[in-house]
Amino acid sequence: MNVTIIGTGYVGLVTGACLADAGNHVFCLDLDEGKIARLNRGEIPIFEPGLEAIVKRNEAAGRLRFSTDVAASVAHGELQLIAVGTPPGEDGSADLQHVVAAARSIGRYMDGYKVVATKSTVPVGTADKVKQAIIEEQKKRHAGSDFTVVSNPEFLKEGAAVEDFMRPDRIIIGAEDARAIAMLRSLYAPFQRNRERIIVMSVRSAELTKYAANAMLATRISFMNEIANLAEAIGADIEEVRRGIGSDPRIGYQFLYPGVGFGGSCFPKDVKALQRTAQDAGRPLRVVNAVEEVNEAQKHVLGFKIRDRFANELRGKCIALWGLAFKANTDDMREAPSLALIDDLVAAGAKVRAYDPAAAAEAKKLFAQSAAVTIVPNAMEALASADVLAIVTEWQEFRSPDFAAIKKALKTPAIFDGRNLYDPATLRAQGLEYYPIGRKS
Ligand SMILES: NC(=O)c1ccc[n+]([C@@H]2O[C@H](COP(=O)([O-])OP(=O)(O)OC[C@H]3O[C@@H](n4cnc5c(N)ncnc54)[C@H](O)[C@@H]3O)[C@@H](O)[C@H]2O)c1
Repeated sequence: MNVTIIGTGYVGLVTGACLADAGNHVFCLDLDEGKIARLNRGEIPIFEPGLEAIVKRNEAAGRLRFSTDVAASVAHGELQLIAVGTPPGEDGSADLQHVVAAARSIGRYMDGYKVVATKSTVPVGTADKVKQAIIEEQKKRHAGSDFTVVSNPEFLKEGAAVEDFMRPDRIIIGAEDARAIAMLRSLYAPFQRNRERIIVMSVRSAELTKYAANAMLATRISFMNEIANLAEAIGADIEEVRRGIGSDPRIGYQFLYPGVGFGGSCFPKDVKALQRTAQDAGRPLRVVNAVEEVNEAQKHVLGFKIRDRFANELRGKCIALWGLAFKANTDDMREAPSLALIDDLVAAGAKVRAYDPAAAAEAKKLFAQSAAVTIVPNAMEALASADVLAIVTEWQEFRSPDFAAIKKALKTPAIFDGRNLYDPATLRAQGLEYYPIGRKS
């Protein structure tokens, strides 16, 4: 099948590469000339395990190409997948300008039947806006090709995006039109060989499903963070509690990890957008409102613990920071909890020496103007002349460090662990002070 992907970011690039790998001819469009130039030079603009090999293989096979040519992109695909960003607007609602712009360009150039599928996370009712934009553009040039707009929300996780795309738990198709449903069924057939994973539903239900899924996951995180803070206050251990409740199959172990709050390009903005939708519909979601409130507070828990350790006097102190990305296995720092911690520390007069295995380039751009923040190339260098160590991202390489070397390097041998990576007894036996989340400090 000839497929066009509009927007070659985390979702668009992974989708394009994986669809090409299944034998489709994929045209990836982006308006960012720098990004397309890098891709055409063989560079992968994002860090995503396993992606580079698939991109290279399919480019070499002539099934995957990257371009800024809008007219050619519309001409190429009988299926047009919209995967542009939907950042939060001023009022928290999803900003649909990129989605509408993508729809307009389809309407401007289309000639013949197209299925337009929205992969971007968009509020209920967006499919109608996409349809309207295409019709308006067709009218301007007195054209009238037939088309169908469907919702096909994406559920991949950064850090495991290729794996998630290749072996999805479910594929949601929001559509009423039989021809469009058949096209998407055939597109996704190679990714669900051992059992059917497609769930067909109405467009509006599909749009809401994506937000409901992310809000549910965010709720688990905020719930665990609140229980963790309570556990700490009353002498229980959240890791024991986590195992105790996770063993109930109705609850399960996934997404029960307490920490420094959720970040990233999806949960924070999707929670806000869902709140906005609910508010506008006159049905405010009180649970979701609380999820966001708890998360905002949780991002400051580690900063609070560090200030508390030094009796609120951080001037002249240097904090080593391990982890900048919002989670492991990505270079994405959008809404990362590390940003809130760095803000807190710098506002209190401290300096920060930070290391991340993948997000260094991104962090250097973000902190180019900040004299208080230095990005260093490895974990041990972050400790040089630092007072204490804070850990914000659960990268594998942080899980078994040389504790003796850490103790030697730090002026105050203390680790503030926002991900509960270590066994408290082991650390204390090594003579390190240990401050995890929801456990005894
Ligand atoms: N990142 C994730 O893990 C993830 C997972 C599921 C769903 N989503 C959703 O998918 C969408 C895309 O997310 P992302 O993280 O890939 O975003 P991104 O910012 O990484 O990529 C979006 C790309 O779209 C391009 N773009 C914007 N307007 C365009 C236009 N009119 N024509 C062509 N290209 C255009 C941008 O230049 C950018 O490269 C969002 O709605 C997001 O909520 C993201």
